[in-house]
Amino acid sequence: MAHGDAQIDYPGVSGRHIVLAVSGGIAAYKAIEVCRRLVDGGASVTPILTESAHQFVGPTTFKALATEPLVTSLFDSDDPIPHTTLGQIADLIVVAPATARVIGSYAAGISDDILGATLISTKAPVVVCPAMHTEMWEHPSVQENLATLRRRGVHIVEPDEGRLAGGDIGKGRLAAPARILAEIERLLGPNDLDALTVVISAGGTREPIDPVRFISNRSSGKQGYALAAEAVGRGANVVLVTTVDLPIPHGVAAVHVETSEQMRKAVLESAANADIVVMAAAVSDFRPASTADQKIKKSAGVPEIVLEPAPDILAELGSLRTADQTLVGFAAETENLLDNAASKLSRKNIDMIVANDVSASGVGFGHDTNAVTIITEGGLVTGVALSSKREVARAVFDQVIRYREIPAGPTLV
Ligand code: CTP
Repeated sequence: MAHGDAQIDYPGVSGRHIVLAVSGGIAAYKAIEVCRRLVDGGASVTPILTESAHQFVGPTTFKALATEPLVTSLFDSDDPIPHTTLGQIADLIVVAPATARVIGSYAAGISDDILGATLISTKAPVVVCPAMHTEMWEHPSVQENLATLRRRGVHIVEPDEGRLAGGDIGKGRLAAPARILAEIERLLGPNDLDALTVVISAGGTREPIDPVRFISNRSSGKQGYALAAEAVGRGANVVLVTTVDLPIPHGVAAVHVETSEQMRKAVLESAANADIVVMAAAVSDFRPASTADQKIKKSAGVPEIVLEPAPDILAELGSLRTADQTLVGFAAETENLLDNAASKLSRKNIDMIVANDVSASGVGFGHDTNAVTIITEGGLVTGVALSSKREVARAVFDQVIRYREIPAGPTLV
């Protein structure tokens, strides 16, 4: 059986209301399977078919399989505002398949049909499952629209590679129903950071030499932002102390800083009431001992820039920590990854360190992907293979939750 998923049940969807939106693509037939599995798992399912979806699948099928009436238009029910009603009652909305047009409309906030209007009237999690030809999938407009949606917290289930309509082979096949259902189950899962305060730092600090020049590093801040999006998605109150100007994930409180000293102040202030602090920022280790008031002129000759140590924020957090606060550091290494990371863990008196080899391809600075090894204070080591920074963020918080659930044992001296 394809993907070996025929017998899997999805109890996590039980009792939840899911809006299953189907747009017009060949893969629309797979939405029938998604609908059936959701209903089998005990979910209430309201199907939406866009106008062009009718070219690919029949309304009768969804009327027969779904638990709730089929919705096809803003004007075909007694409810004068079906989109806001659906947006409010849904525990989750899944768009499968999502065509390039639907993705573009959603990214632009266009609400000219029942699907567009429902998507922008909901606060429920939204799962978008694109399906299209490889050329369309790779087009910058589609990728940029998807990046916009991701930044807003929309969950994208990437298409599979394989045989496409017309016989071409490439990326663009709708993800297997099992993958779509697993994502839905995960999103409906426990809100395990609920009511916890999480402070996250992101980006490289800038240490000024003069009004126009600074010392910095290659950190893009993307991993920190992914951590913030993940934590807020799991119910945390999130403060993001950042040096970069990326779009702030929905629901996150941001504090913008530049220097290590500004970051130190902002992090220490927020950390005073935090349950979890994650230092994903690349804080400068050194800074100019003094900053010139005016731009240093070339005519004055090659300047001698004297450096001094910058504050080590994580070490300071480690010295101030309370027993029930969880401190997480990152270690960007180019050699002796595990030894260097483990020694930072004990030297800075923290609970967990996320080590990445920034010299490996696709890992760390500037990339959208990362591969890490998570080491906890108790010696638990977990590897996360090359994946998106959001997936790495998920793995980090999975470990944090596990770590916080371990009862504190007697202290070994
Ligand atoms: N860190 C910090 N303040 C600093 C330097 C680092 O808070 N001045 C934090 C980073 O945010 C990261 C962890 O400490 O979470 C480890 O940072 P890293 O630069 O890898 O380690 P360093 O202690 O600076 O050691 P080295 O640069 O020699 O590897």
